Amino acid sequence: MSKLWGGRFAGGLDPFFEAFNRSLPFDRRMVDEDLVGSAAWARALGRAGVLTAAEVKKLEKKDVVQWERFLDMRKRVAADPGLCERAADEDVHSFVERELGELVGTLAKKLHTGRSRNDQVATDLRLWMKRCVGDLDLAMAGLQRALVALAAKTSDLPVPGYTHLQRAQPVTAGHHALAYAEMLDRDRGRVADALRRMDRSPLGCGALAGTAFPVDRKALAEDLGFGGPTRNSLDTVSDRDHVAEVLFACSLTMVHLSRLAEDWIFLGTFESRLVRFADAVATGSSLMPQKKNPDALELIRGKCGRIAGHLQALLMTMKGLPLAYDKDLQEDKEGLFDALDQTTACVRVMTTVVETTEYDVERCRAAAATGYLNATDLADLLVLAGVPFRDAHERVGIAVRTAIEHGCELEDLPTDVLTDLMPEIPAASLRRELSVERVLARRKVFGGTAPSRVRAEVKAWQKRLPEAEPKKRGRR
Ligand code: ARG
Repeated sequence: MSKLWGGRFAGGLDPFFEAFNRSLPFDRRMVDEDLVGSAAWARALGRAGVLTAAEVKKLEKKDVVQWERFLDMRKRVAADPGLCERAADEDVHSFVERELGELVGTLAKKLHTGRSRNDQVATDLRLWMKRCVGDLDLAMAGLQRALVALAAKTSDLPVPGYTHLQRAQPVTAGHHALAYAEMLDRDRGRVADALRRMDRSPLGCGALAGTAFPVDRKALAEDLGFGGPTRNSLDTVSDRDHVAEVLFACSLTMVHLSRLAEDWIFLGTFESRLVRFADAVATGSSLMPQKKNPDALELIRGKCGRIAGHLQALLMTMKGLPLAYDKDLQEDKEGLFDALDQTTACVRVMTTVVETTEYDVERCRAAAATGYLNATDLADLLVLAGVPFRDAHERVGIAVRTAIEHGCELEDLPTDVLTDLMPEIPAASLRRELSVERVLARRKVFGGTAPSRVRAEVKAWQKRLPEAEPKKRGRR
């Protein structure tokens, strides 16, 4: 296989190093972007008058024809993905140039005028991310919709709320679901933010110093659908901030998914039995016939480490990297591709889990009413009766201790005991106000867990989230 850089070299490559050096096995995912970028570069060269007068004329006249050649190749690659897989070229750029040569002959040799693989790969990667990061966003919106649908069904279902994994106060299951919709919203914001920042075209930066040909980089950027050109060639060819930003967005998304996974794995244990997983997302044991394991959630929780690892790997690759391009940067792609594939897959699987998991309504109600989750409310009631909060806290603490001794809940203490402990409030009204429904309803502050608040939030979410998921944007 001839190289793009053969002239300087008399000897051939060590075969093991040659394989080690190649990036085509993974950067072929950007073949479409390499073709789009190459076609735009050809047009920019035409506009810059780089070729001889006759060639410019030919190119101008046949601009459409030349583009058709690129389209031919796009079709060829789409029809036979194996074409790229079988090729022995060093990278996707060499592959495209050689294949184009077979289609258009000498003109392909002129294509690399004033261009370097350094600005080329930077452009390809940004174009690829602009196309493919959208798939992750669509998946995240789908998961948000599933969470909002769950919240609509469970806006008034009480479940125990925990701090320190100890029962704390009752919350509604709907409020719990919407907590994750909020996290995903921030995740989507981070992805959108990264996309906005990366929307600058590197093409024309050359190897490091800028191309020596009079290319109109603004027009070129526009041609490629970028918001404009980058401003410093040295920075541009070695900038991978956007990769790090997307890896961080993926990592934090995975951290969020792993927390939901853990919450539900806990609620699904035999000890809790507050949620039931559908057969569709659980598996059995090869040995223990009774087992039903939450594998989907465990895998999601587990993959979080791998994706955070990709972020760490890129940061370490970038650390101390001298300007401008260094081959170290070839290490940016596999982690990014894997992180996007895996995060998108995890979001999709989580969507199925959210759509199919069921709360055990009876057990949830019972659990939310057991374990003194209304103790804060008893203190609040004393405060309303004029007791300073610190004193109320102390007295409710004593009441809890008494109830533990009686082996009952606060509201189930014998009337004389209750009246003795809380003479300010009649026992009957205490019992009414300590019910889980009253405890939840009182938390109608903006951001609170009251069913009325959750229903209002569900409405707001339904308004914000577009109805149906548009079709996937593109092949990856
Ligand atoms: N495969 C390389 C990468 O992924 C392409 C750029 C190569 N440039 C170079 N000067 N060797 O970064």
